[in-house]
Amino acid sequence: MAFHRYDVVVVGAGGAGLSAALELAGEATVAVITKLYPTRSHTGAAQGGVAASLGNVEEDHWEWHLYDTIKGGDYLVDQDAAEILVKDAIDAVVGLEHMGLPFSRTPEGKIAQRRFGGHTRNFGEGPVMRACYSADRTGHMILTTLYQNSVKNKVTFFDEYHLLDLIFTEDGTCSGVVAYELKTGELHVIHAKAVILATGGAGRVFKITSNAMASTGDGMGVAFRNGVPLMDLEFMQFHPTGLARLGILVSEAARGEGGIVRNSTGEAFAARYAPTMKDLAPRDMMSRFIHQEIKEGRGIDGKDYVLLDLTHLSSETIAEKLPDISDFARVYLGVEPTEEGIPIQPTAHFTMGGIPTNNDGQVIRDGEGTVVPGLYAAGECACVSIHGANRLGTNSLLELLVFGRRAGKQVMRDLDSLEFATLPKSPETASVERIDALRGRTSGHRAPEIRAKMQESMTENLSVSREEAGIVETLGVIQQLKRDYSDVTVDDKGSVYNIDLMEALELEHMLNIAEVMCQGALDRQESRGAHYRADFAKRDDVNWLRHTMAYKQGQGLSMAYKPVTITRFEPKERTY
Ligand code: FUM
Repeated sequence: MAFHRYDVVVVGAGGAGLSAALELAGEATVAVITKLYPTRSHTGAAQGGVAASLGNVEEDHWEWHLYDTIKGGDYLVDQDAAEILVKDAIDAVVGLEHMGLPFSRTPEGKIAQRRFGGHTRNFGEGPVMRACYSADRTGHMILTTLYQNSVKNKVTFFDEYHLLDLIFTEDGTCSGVVAYELKTGELHVIHAKAVILATGGAGRVFKITSNAMASTGDGMGVAFRNGVPLMDLEFMQFHPTGLARLGILVSEAARGEGGIVRNSTGEAFAARYAPTMKDLAPRDMMSRFIHQEIKEGRGIDGKDYVLLDLTHLSSETIAEKLPDISDFARVYLGVEPTEEGIPIQPTAHFTMGGIPTNNDGQVIRDGEGTVVPGLYAAGECACVSIHGANRLGTNSLLELLVFGRRAGKQVMRDLDSLEFATLPKSPETASVERIDALRGRTSGHRAPEIRAKMQESMTENLSVSREEAGIVETLGVIQQLKRDYSDVTVDDKGSVYNIDLMEALELEHMLNIAEVMCQGALDRQESRGAHYRADFAKRDDVNWLRHTMAYKQGQGLSMAYKPVTITRFEPKERTY
């Protein structure tokens, strides 16, 4: 077992983790541990843009962005947090420009901006160009820019280290992490004054997803196992345009540039449901429109997908502004997007809920905002909550920048009062036992089989439309799979790049997260944002304008609630 000591350890090298690390670099000793090589983090998969009301192409204001974010989130957004997000957006994007990010440009040389779902001019009058972009590789550009700057600023990286556990002292202060080095199988204790979790989402709980293999909710799972609640996990975003069957993301930028979704009759049906925003209605709605068309038999050839039509766009626009997604259509489906529609269907895309934090990234353990000392979270693994029940496209990359930085700044403020606490004796013991049990069993269930059953059932019953019977069925499946997991074993007993072992460790988190998603979805007897209950089709502000907080209780769960912060915009009916 190896031992290290840094002022701060950041877990995760995506946009949030790197933004936090950069804020601290030079002022404190910072280690970033990441289970992937940093530039493979899932931030790199975000395509279409990062929102900021720069007004480079047409008039825009942060107040409009704020309104859209709150309405887009179906009023479950904490409005004070969203105000920080949209106000800081401009500085965050300009900051990237100064770090050298190669944005696409307007003819005058300004940062180019395009339309995206749910982003409107003048409080809902019609689409506005707010998404700053780098072709359809915006996340990739942000990730590489932040990584290059982190290396320049001497952040220490532990690449291919998997988070096993958080270390808490007796008084409940988080004082480090236990990690597993994939290359050697060695365990590492990293002692720190502060730990920032930036481990991304949990889309891999579903079968059809745009998420990378690594999006297994590790930070959420480890925090949850250590008594931290998980907030609003019933709100899972389904991006309307995933490649059919595969789930690979086809950016909303395709519709921002004029793409249209059509059913089997060729109808541009979104206009029937959302006469003002049409194909740029927010994601929860677009996904439901597609679901409805398919349910009523207007999927292509009666199947469960529709077509994204780009054929009316010039081939120059497609080549310059949408190069990657058009290649995805060619490579994965054999479809030429300049000549034919791309088969698409909703795909599990973004975990709106997560580890509850205050507006400065401090993890909180209850509805009163009690802080867990030494523990911080930012990005998709966290729930601030700026996305409420449905995130707007391009607000995710923005969240990473704004709240990653804020977490870093808060740690900087706290470092004076935090110290290297005395660690418990052998903090790695529980992790050693967990790994020995997985490797030591000679028979038992196999993780890939459990995972496949979980993903199948979650996609079947917890997708765009849910209802009681299906949720209950899947909850039962997950609880059985948790029992099966108790004797899970791995075939690879070795220590060098033991991916079999890592996947078995990830599975524990995914099962816990899936259970919380199911319980939250079952309890919430209303429809709000991405959580659409066919048996409770209306939003219910009287009973459900509140956040869910799920706690681990033995092998089960206990649920509590937290009020929504409303500062400017009272809930009203959402039309587009
Ligand atoms: O559609 C997209 O390009 C995805 C962006 C996002 O999720 O923010």
